[in-house]
Amino acid sequence: MPSIVISGGQWGDEGKAKITDLLSNQADFIIRYQGGANAGHTVSTEAGLFKFHLIPSGILFEGKICIIGPGTVIEPSFLIKEIEDLKNKNINLNGLKISPLASVTMPWHIAIDKATDTVGSTGRGIGPTYTEKAKRSGVQIYDLLNRNYLENKLTKILPKQNQTLRQIHDLPEYKLEEVLAEYLNYGEILKPYIADTINDLHKGRKSGKNILFEGAQGTLLDITFGTYPYVTSSTPVSGGACVGSGMGPTSIDKALGVFKCFSTRVGDGPFPSELEEKSVEAVKLRQDGTQWAEFGTTTGRMRRVGWFDTVLARYAVKVNSLDYIAFTKIDTLDAFDEIFICVAYMHKGTGEIVQDLPYAAADYLRDFEPVFQSVEGWKENTHGVRDWDKLPEKAKNYINLLSQIIETPVAILSTGPKREDSIILANIF
Ligand code: IMP
Repeated sequence: MPSIVISGGQWGDEGKAKITDLLSNQADFIIRYQGGANAGHTVSTEAGLFKFHLIPSGILFEGKICIIGPGTVIEPSFLIKEIEDLKNKNINLNGLKISPLASVTMPWHIAIDKATDTVGSTGRGIGPTYTEKAKRSGVQIYDLLNRNYLENKLTKILPKQNQTLRQIHDLPEYKLEEVLAEYLNYGEILKPYIADTINDLHKGRKSGKNILFEGAQGTLLDITFGTYPYVTSSTPVSGGACVGSGMGPTSIDKALGVFKCFSTRVGDGPFPSELEEKSVEAVKLRQDGTQWAEFGTTTGRMRRVGWFDTVLARYAVKVNSLDYIAFTKIDTLDAFDEIFICVAYMHKGTGEIVQDLPYAAADYLRDFEPVFQSVEGWKENTHGVRDWDKLPEKAKNYINLLSQIIETPVAILSTGPKREDSIILANIF
């Protein structure tokens, strides 16, 4: 039975949650492998609209095991609120499992993130939590279950942290006893969900269960492969599924990349195919209905918008080893007379035209300008279309052209926020 990894092909917000939700039905395990509450997903079902940050949206299906994996970072009070919100909507959380290895975001991480941000972060403490992990002084979920472990770590961390907070950032200090009591209490609340996720996954794999690895953010926000330094601090690419779950590469069978039919970005950093914020096209791309509007689920910030960039998509296909693509939000393009596609980059110095990039670091990307090709818009409704044959010819041509340029077959085309608003072109599981 296959294991599939879903990752974002662009700068996050590609609509991964919708695709994950669609495939979750066929999965037995769904695991988030990186990131934290910087991610935000909205899933629309008959029961209403659900917003997720840390918990895999597969929890909406009965009987699925939904894991918050070892590679993630968790702000406990935030997770507890997410759990409570779902319980209040009568969602059964018996399948929720939290890895004891996940890193814990402490209150000073959030304070420092807000005080030192240079990339337009989500302000959720993600960067400072991963920094602490890499410095080998981080608190992990298992610490919250053991007073000695947590006290030992806090005794080492807090004096230095308080000094930094006070002297460098002019921020309030934290008292060890108070932090200890608060975080042990979080441990108590989360205890029923903290589980041996590594053995659970491996047993699942051995007994033929389907496993879905759910990436957050996207390829171009990857700490190594993204538009560095305008990136997040984790590994959203498909390979992150291994380091963030406890399963090696031979346990993952296929990789699906999710792309919007255009591009968006929140936060700072280069965006070669970006449209000028107030241009008619940008406003049109952004104003496509309340549920789908281009504002971040996590921060409510306005997303920057632009045309589909095949150069970056070709790069994403490689660094994720994508077998399939899922395209989302085709309906957003319904009203356009003309649709542009970034088909190549031109080097600003040499005039050289390239289709393949060796890397996508911010400084390097700024040396190029996009080369666009335009196609005629279909000017017909695709919203909610559920059959490929019922799509306008020009819409089919647009999708086929993108698929051809990025040399990857399309498995799913999403035509709206509802589960059913989907065209399945290949069965991945
Ligand atoms: P951080 O992950 O909060 O440290 O933010 C780093 C960069 O990643 C910023 O530009 C954020 O806007 C961006 N980012 C983080 N999470 C998401 C996401 O889920 N969707 C889109 N952008 C994100």
